[in-house]
Amino acid sequence: MKFFVDTAEIEDIKELNDLGMVDGVTTNPSLILKSGRDIMEVTKEICDIVSGPVSAEVVAMEADAMIAEGRKLADIAENIAVKLPLTWDGLKACKVLSDDGMMVNVTLCFSANQALLAAKAGATFISPFIGRLDDINLDGMDLIQDIRTIYDNYGFETSILAASIRSANHVLDCARIGADVMTAPPEVIRKLVSHPLTDKGLDQFMKDWAKTGQNIL
Ligand code: E4P
Repeated sequence: MKFFVDTAEIEDIKELNDLGMVDGVTTNPSLILKSGRDIMEVTKEICDIVSGPVSAEVVAMEADAMIAEGRKLADIAENIAVKLPLTWDGLKACKVLSDDGMMVNVTLCFSANQALLAAKAGATFISPFIGRLDDINLDGMDLIQDIRTIYDNYGFETSILAASIRSANHVLDCARIGADVMTAPPEVIRKLVSHPLTDKGLDQFMKDWAKTGQNIL
């Protein structure tokens, strides 16, 4: 499973990218607001750091304006994936931009039928939002499983980009189901390393090592 990092914070992207943990980046208008940066500038900076797809989201609501914004965003760098909302206009823009050879990430997906439409419109990525479904007491992971089944049934090439990931268990469940990509905030990716038995075992090893009185260097 590929790891995308869901942030527009440059220092976090650099740190995780240097560790080989970043196959791509996703941003959205809320993350751009949080960064306090200009969308064109910060997106260009991210594209210079990361070689994989970097999603940048349009904010227009109507297809022609989405297409114009998408083309402007795609001009930032070759690895831009234009992010479009899962509306009828978003699907129209998806078809035009993907036919033009651009990578498209269709976002705000909350049903398997929406994912089916995005695949038929030529989306490169579909972004089902797990956490936001869990927030309203629906099972976000059921949606990932349904989309996996439907895409495999018909050989759709659209990649499932599991989004709105809030926990290590979300990451594990997505990997078990076979999501192609997951995008998570930096803090969730860092938390994947934690295990109490690792900490306990290391603590014991350090205590015993001190008793040996030895040094390696
Ligand atoms: C994905 O592309 C979105 O930017 C993101 O995963 C949304 O996550 P949230 O529901 O935690 O805001």
